[in-house]
Amino acid sequence: MKEMINVALPKGRLGEKVYAMFEKAGYECPSIKETNRKLIFENEDAGVRYFWVKPSDVAIYVERGAADIGVAGKDILLEYSPEVYELLDLNIGKCRMAVAAKKNFSDNTATTLRVATKFVSIAKDYYAKKGRDIDIIKLNGSIELAPILGLSDVIVDIVETGKTLIENGLEPKENIVPISARLIANKSSFKFKTQQIEDIKDKLKAQVKTDD
Ligand code: PRP
Repeated sequence: MKEMINVALPKGRLGEKVYAMFEKAGYECPSIKETNRKLIFENEDAGVRYFWVKPSDVAIYVERGAADIGVAGKDILLEYSPEVYELLDLNIGKCRMAVAAKKNFSDNTATTLRVATKFVSIAKDYYAKKGRDIDIIKLNGSIELAPILGLSDVIVDIVETGKTLIENGLEPKENIVPISARLIANKSSFKFKTQQIEDIKDKLKAQVKTDD
């Protein structure tokens, strides 16, 4: 019997796009579209089992081998540096990590910069490279509120369309890094299921749209 490949998919809009790519690659699992509360789906004939996982948890499942492969945002990979192989840039889920602040903000380098973010490590690295002294305020969501309420001077956060910033009177000030979804693999799964994982990678790669 064929060994199953366990795939952690990021729950949400990105995950649906990712599943569509796997389906097109020949790893379909029709039952996945029938219900929206169930979290595990499998198709034994195709040799694949999918889990819907919170996007920020995908790398944990893969790193610890609960999933053989998965799709995670580059933001999560940069922030947590999980011990996984990054196999492919799927070129979807594209956005950027940026510094944003109120429109009239100007940095006073004589003071410590207060930075609100979910991405503590990315923010620390970025400002360390610039030699800028900062105070990190770790938040878990709605980061845009921080500068508005005077909790922070700037935020380090994901910007996709820029709408959230505009609607809250903020604007991007500096780009840190472009972000997109990546196919990742557990290191020992990759060793023992090399052929199957390479097959999936190649079939997904054939669908990756390049920007031009
Ligand atoms: C992210 C990010 C911004 C928003 C940016 O939030 O934190 O709030 O998307 O998107 P936009 O530029 O298209 O407006 P997410 O939806 O991931 O939720 P969060 O509040 O948990 O961070």
